[in-house]
Amino acid sequence: MGAPAKRVTVPSLRAMKGHRRIVMLTAYDFPTARAVDTAGTEVILVGDSLGMVVLGYPDTLTVTMEEMLHHLRAVARGTSQALVIGDMPYLSYHVSIEESVRNAGAFIRAGAHGVKVEGGKPSRIKTIEAILDAEIPVMGHIGLTPQSLNAFGGFKVQGKSTDDGKRLIDEAMALDQVGCFSLVLECVPAELAAFITEKISIPTIGIGAGPACDGQVLVLHDLVGLYEGHTAKFVRRYAEVGGAIRDAVGRFAEDVREGRFPDVATESFHMGTDEELRRLYGQNELTAEPLDTGSQPSEEKA
Ligand code: KIV
Repeated sequence: MGAPAKRVTVPSLRAMKGHRRIVMLTAYDFPTARAVDTAGTEVILVGDSLGMVVLGYPDTLTVTMEEMLHHLRAVARGTSQALVIGDMPYLSYHVSIEESVRNAGAFIRAGAHGVKVEGGKPSRIKTIEAILDAEIPVMGHIGLTPQSLNAFGGFKVQGKSTDDGKRLIDEAMALDQVGCFSLVLECVPAELAAFITEKISIPTIGIGAGPACDGQVLVLHDLVGLYEGHTAKFVRRYAEVGGAIRDAVGRFAEDVREGRFPDVATESFHMGTDEELRRLYGQNELTAEPLDTGSQPSEEKA
């Protein structure tokens, strides 16, 4: 067995810009975190998409700090190589700078190596500056920031007009200058994402932002076909796990109903001898035919 791969760190991720494309995925629990981590993903985001793809909420606005921390702890336990980022949920960094720093710190204490914060307006830059000042690395996120759903009037591509494109360029530069270590660009024109990627010093990680970004991120449940809600244009499905689960459950149900599960010889435990059975029921009460179990091991493991 080779030496375990080294953990990706904030400086090692920053150094990938221009050298190696970054792979980032979401994960929300121990087994998926393990799978995503051991597949060689550089960044695992415990995204607030948790609300939609795991908890069944209609959007990300309902997700709480407690829910995020609960899932983040499980993901942290399931990773040994990826940089783990906690996505600060709606209202966890909007009320006051002090509360924002405290909430960001709670993610670090739960096992994250940094946090992601949506938005790049001047007041948000101040909040990010305070979080950074508490030694907490921050990943920025601009473009279609889902927590601004109501302000945007829906899930709409951002930065299509010259004015809006300029706003996003200014925000990207401000996030770079304040000290973010990377920047998610969500649902912006590919040309704008390429321009921003060229212009700033930190890696850009795109989702619906074209191929020129320094890395790409998708929501795991979209990628593996485990989310049945709306699928955006930029999602590429690599598996149909939802269908595979439905198929497996359907076959199990059929086997149970037809009496084919469990198999008495290979999927059941047995008494050691007929004598023990007789003692269990009483000598004269053993009327049923003994089960034909094949061989009878004296000690069995579950
Ligand atoms: O919550 C999330 O999954 C995200 C990614 C889509 C970037 O913010």
